Amino acid sequence: MTDTPAKSHGRLAVRPSLTPRDLMADTPALARAWRAQVITLFPEAFPGILGLSLTGKALKDGLWQLEAVDLRRFGEGRHRNVDDTPAGGGAGMVLRADVMGRAIEHGRAGMDRAAPLIYLSPRGRPFDQAMARDLATRPGVTMICGRFEGLDQRVIDHFDITELSLGDFVMTGGEIAAQAVLDTTVRLLPGVLGNAASAEEESFSDGLLEHPHYTRPADWQGRSIPDVLLSGHHGEIEKWRQGQRESLTESRRPDLWAAYRARRG
Ligand SMILES: C[S@@+](CC[C@H](N)C(=O)[O-])C[C@H]1O[C@@H](n2cnc3c(N)ncnc32)[C@H](O)[C@@H]1O
Repeated sequence: MTDTPAKSHGRLAVRPSLTPRDLMADTPALARAWRAQVITLFPEAFPGILGLSLTGKALKDGLWQLEAVDLRRFGEGRHRNVDDTPAGGGAGMVLRADVMGRAIEHGRAGMDRAAPLIYLSPRGRPFDQAMARDLATRPGVTMICGRFEGLDQRVIDHFDITELSLGDFVMTGGEIAAQAVLDTTVRLLPGVLGNAASAEEESFSDGLLEHPHYTRPADWQGRSIPDVLLSGHHGEIEKWRQGQRESLTESRRPDLWAAYRARRG
């Protein structure tokens, strides 16, 4: 699933003559599949967990495709250096603008222009379900995984890159964030979830957190399942679940609750 290895050992690695675009021309189904491209120093981290379960089956079935572009291929010199010290001094290293620029140009050459270019970054807009829904309607996405102190700002400005955050915490690299974004998005693609209704009922789908779930055994450690769920009255069950969704959201997420109330007038 990693990018095709480069033949050249020159300054700029050159892709062999057969590109993924050529391959896709021979397989129309793949040409239409949602396409994820990840620029990373650790292509071996992909597909990772995405190769398992529903997302893995969807990958095998060609419902989406994944290309990991190895940033190291675009590095400088014999050691393929990708980073350097920060201008102005300070701790850590910064990913070089020229190296990342080459990797992005290489990756974007094979991508539909309507696929957004995203940099996973703690400074970015917090990722949410609405963004995943939007991404799922696009032809795909290119995601850049940062390392060290992150990207040279000129790259972000030059390519007009959207910064996306997984949350208010700092990880060592963007790979886990990229996988989280992909997992969330791929399961919304048509045909990926067996039961389409389950995506509609999940947390955030209508602005509320999801209601609690129960299954067998009916009694466990002295705890029983709420009677209403065993009543068989679908109307009552739905009323109970809606009440649970509302009270959970009100107590745990006042921000979501306020937005939900405002939408309902
Ligand atoms: C050590 S972090 C760099 C943090 C950066 N110096 C800052 O303070 O904003 C290295 C890389 O991990 C990724 N990363 C870390 N935390 C992240 C988060 N909350 N969301 C998305 N990506 C994150 C980014 O790609 C980032 O470039």
